[in-house]
Amino acid sequence: MTQARIEHLVTSGKFSLDGGTWDVDNNVWLVGDDTEVIVIDAAHDADAIAGAVGGRTLRAIVCTHAHNDHIDAAPALAARTGAPVLLHPDDLPLWKLTHPDLVPDGELADGQVLTVAGAELRVLHTPGHAPGAVCLYAPALRTLFSGDTLFAGGPGATGRSYSHFPAIVESIRDRLLILPADTVVRTGHGETTTVGAEAPHLQEWIDRGF
Ligand SMILES: [Fe+2]
Repeated sequence: MTQARIEHLVTSGKFSLDGGTWDVDNNVWLVGDDTEVIVIDAAHDADAIAGAVGGRTLRAIVCTHAHNDHIDAAPALAARTGAPVLLHPDDLPLWKLTHPDLVPDGELADGQVLTVAGAELRVLHTPGHAPGAVCLYAPALRTLFSGDTLFAGGPGATGRSYSHFPAIVESIRDRLLILPADTVVRTGHGETTTVGAEAPHLQEWIDRGF
């Protein structure tokens, strides 16, 4: 029985790609107990995230993908805490756009299991929004951390470089919508949803093309 709990903060900054820049609010998720914690997506504000970690040991900074808004504060948070930054290697080209002189400390791979506070986080490689996009499934917490792969209302954006709509559809259909319907989907931006709330809409998304 895990004592792990989920904490959440929202940080604000910019998303930039393909020459455009947009204001964005990002969800930053923490999974852990009173002793240790993992951060999912160190977005925008290392001070705020370090404050949420507090005196606990930060085991890892997990990047759901390497769009700048999800990784911009990762090196600063790593420097403050000594925690390793973990990224799927297929997103290294995107990482380099934001941090050209740095590399992540370790790799995420499909099927890998991260453990914190007795809770397992299973890495699901879910390409489409980005080639190295991953989701993290925590069965004991009935939670999927979906990054920008699945939102309340549909898939993540696939209109910009490094994205592919057929790939995100395949990832969502084959890896995410097979999870238990009551799995809570905690997203990279905006509202939380559930697998059961989203699953009936897959064909609508395919038909509309986004
Ligand atoms: Fe993204």
